[in-house]
Amino acid sequence: MVDLLIKNGRILNPAENEDFTGDILISDGMIVEKGKDINKECDVIDASGCYVMPGLIDLHVHLRDPGLEYKETLSTGAKAAAHGGFTTICPMPNTKPVTDTPEKIRTLVERIKNECVINVLPIGSVTIGMQGKEVTDIKGMKEAGACGISEDGKSVMDSGVYRIAMREAAACGMPVMAHCEDINLVQGGVMNMGNKSDELGLNGISNAVEDIIAIRDIMLAKETGAKLHLCHCSTKDSVRMVEEAKKDGVDVTAEVCPHHFTLCDEDITGDDGNYKMNPPLRSREDMEILKEGIKAGIMEVISTDHAPHSAEEKSGGFKSSPFGIVGLETSAALTMTELVDKGYLTPMGMVERMSYNPAKVIGIDKGTLNVGKTADIVIFDPDSEYEIDVNTFESKGKNTPFNGKKVKGRVKYTICSGKIVYKDNEN
Ligand code: DOR
Ligand code: ZN
Ligand code: ZN
Repeated sequence: MVDLLIKNGRILNPAENEDFTGDILISDGMIVEKGKDINKECDVIDASGCYVMPGLIDLHVHLRDPGLEYKETLSTGAKAAAHGGFTTICPMPNTKPVTDTPEKIRTLVERIKNECVINVLPIGSVTIGMQGKEVTDIKGMKEAGACGISEDGKSVMDSGVYRIAMREAAACGMPVMAHCEDINLVQGGVMNMGNKSDELGLNGISNAVEDIIAIRDIMLAKETGAKLHLCHCSTKDSVRMVEEAKKDGVDVTAEVCPHHFTLCDEDITGDDGNYKMNPPLRSREDMEILKEGIKAGIMEVISTDHAPHSAEEKSGGFKSSPFGIVGLETSAALTMTELVDKGYLTPMGMVERMSYNPAKVIGIDKGTLNVGKTADIVIFDPDSEYEIDVNTFESKGKNTPFNGKKVKGRVKYTICSGKIVYKDNEN
């Protein structure tokens, strides 16, 4: 493989607390040199004015493959990720069939090698068929290449079953990624419970639906010693609970999705299915406290919950649309616009939450720009302003409330194992 030299970028490397303008030399897919004034006869990328960051890592995506390929495939999902600056993504197991055995993980890993332009690390389910009854072969799935377990889309409601899973996960060092939702409290809710749901005459989902399971899962992690990662936290109390649990020594981390720090239920313009996701857009107060939680480092990870659906499926308004919005191609720009530009995060803080910390949660040797590491790198122009346009998406899913939103921050290049897997055509 030819060498590649990235020149004059703002290098942001949390692993060595480095923030300086300089160059990175890539050879044979690895970072071999980093510093000022590196010169070599090879392919050169001018990164002037851009951030040079470790490739972004998304711990929470839905790729719909196998079974629902009309929504997304491994290949289109990976391309969308590359467009969004991601070099590693972790797909949830709620496909058809559910990813619930070592064999299914192995099949995915094989396919990913052939079909994906970036690293894709599958997540296995907690119970067989996501039926909430029988715990999967967690150790076997780990050995086959799964990076975590999750029942995402729902919670394992039987705490006894979940405790068995947590014990096994703890024993083999597998992170448990928790979707927190007490199904008995949902009662037909389709959006946040509050003035907006009253105004639209729709059933609401209260914060307690999420918070009750979040605290249960924290307590089970405390008891079993499992490594717990709370998915898509949307409530103000989730921040408080995570902060307390960490003080208490529980091995817990938490993620927030861009839609939950960018929008609140007041922003919902009408009965539009593109504003429907689970958990829902919460109150302004919840949103503000989530942003404070990200700023304070209590919420350590930004993930997308990329959930592609067809336009037809999403045309039914709040009542009949499925939950979920796409996120891979808007996440970096929304983080830049809503958090970095508004003073909640430094550029380094953004890299920590979108790459360095996610790598630590699943224990992979990524998220750094250290010499000797695999060259997974994103070059990002923080000043480029544009309107989000779903027609530019690589994802099959165009379901987002952000179409037309003015944002700042554009991915210029995504480099995975030293290979350019996305290049902005304005270059
Ligand atoms: O909005 C969501 N969509 N939340 C989930 O938990 C599942 C996801 C999906 O699979 O579409
Ligand atoms: Zn979920
Ligand atoms: Zn999800």
